[in-house]
Amino acid sequence: MKLLLLNGPNLNLLGTREPDVYGHETLDDVESALREAFPDVDFAFRQENSEGALIDHLHTAHRRELNGVVFNPAGYTHTSVALRDAVASIDVPVVEVHLSNVHAREDFRRTSRIAPVCIGQISGLGTRGYHLAVRYLVNESGSRG
Ligand code: DQA
Repeated sequence: MKLLLLNGPNLNLLGTREPDVYGHETLDDVESALREAFPDVDFAFRQENSEGALIDHLHTAHRRELNGVVFNPAGYTHTSVALRDAVASIDVPVVEVHLSNVHAREDFRRTSRIAPVCIGQISGLGTRGYHLAVRYLVNESGSRG
């Protein structure tokens, strides 16, 4: 089982960025915890601040025979038609994850351009959201026909 954990802009600052909203764990902490919790999963972890680089990772997901992508598009969630098109273009299941509850914040965060082309969205469960998305992809996505 090969999974890509893809994080968008500003998430490299996780741990110090608005900790009251996003918590104190860093992306490295998230990576270590996931590797420990899912030792049989072959993870690739990528974080990019630019839209094009995120699109390139999504395009290669298919070629690299990944079984799924856990994707936090961060601020691009609410704006990016190009990222939505990239997710829709690949034959790999994508789960959208947000640390914060995007539905309980500013109005502009309530809309995701990307969620409609994902299997589902997890929002507001902090870093547990990444674990739940991985668990879903490990346990269930193979049985989706
Ligand atoms: C976020 C929510 C987005 O609205 C925001 O722009 C982020 C992080 C989250 O994980 O809660 O950068 O995706």
